[in-house]
Amino acid sequence: MNEELWSDVDSYLVSLLSPSDDALDKTLSDSDAAGLPQINVAPNQGKLLELLAKSHGARRILEIGTLGGYSTIWLARSLPESGKLISLELESKHADVARSNIDRAGLGSLVEIRVGPAASSLRDLIGEKVAPFDFIFIDADKEGYPEYFALSLELSRVGTVIIADNVVRAGEIVNPRSEDERVLAVRTFLEIVASEDRVEGTAVQTVGSKGYDGFAMLIVTK
Ligand code: SAH
Ligand code: DHB
Ligand code: MG
Repeated sequence: MNEELWSDVDSYLVSLLSPSDDALDKTLSDSDAAGLPQINVAPNQGKLLELLAKSHGARRILEIGTLGGYSTIWLARSLPESGKLISLELESKHADVARSNIDRAGLGSLVEIRVGPAASSLRDLIGEKVAPFDFIFIDADKEGYPEYFALSLELSRVGTVIIADNVVRAGEIVNPRSEDERVLAVRTFLEIVASEDRVEGTAVQTVGSKGYDGFAMLIVTK
């Protein structure tokens, strides 16, 4: 088992079931050209997000961590015309690249990007008493996950689905000697999920073109 094989299998699956298109290709090439890190979800993971949101009938989606808008585009494609996606991003440069990518993909009217630290944007949304979100994708700085989860719960209803990316970190999550703040925070996040009786969740490991990682999925039950 090796990364080359994982990538070959991803190429096969992606070419069959979640092929790229002009909007997605240009999103990645413009993100590269602008110097953004290549830490977007893989194409088949993007398609999985789209399918999960669509199968849930999501009309309001919240994303925490926009980058160049790659996952945003997959998620927004799940929405009906009257749907809405709010994506939170710290870096105005990332948000500008994302805005142009999302507009080019024809999804501009569905997506609002809010620039600033996600925790403040989440508090603003709570203060504005916005309608609860149906589907939430947490994918910003890993140190923030415990707080993003707590604030996301306040923006949820019974039935809201929350997905968190990067919860395995090439297995570092079980390294008892890890001092990486990101790993420690993701572990705290998973422990909070486990002890929070308002949610029911799981986590799965993934391998592929983006290496070895995993995501957590949970549903708000009360
Ligand atoms: N969801 C994207 C990838 C997001 S990468 C995709 O799959 O295509 C993580 C993003 O979170 C980066 O753009 C980074 O700038 C942003 N970020 C980091 N710290 C943040 C913070 N405190 N608040 C909001 N966004 C943050
Ligand atoms: C990193 C962040 C991500 O969201 C991701 O999917 C992969 C890596 C990172 O910060 O290293
Ligand atoms: Mg991620």
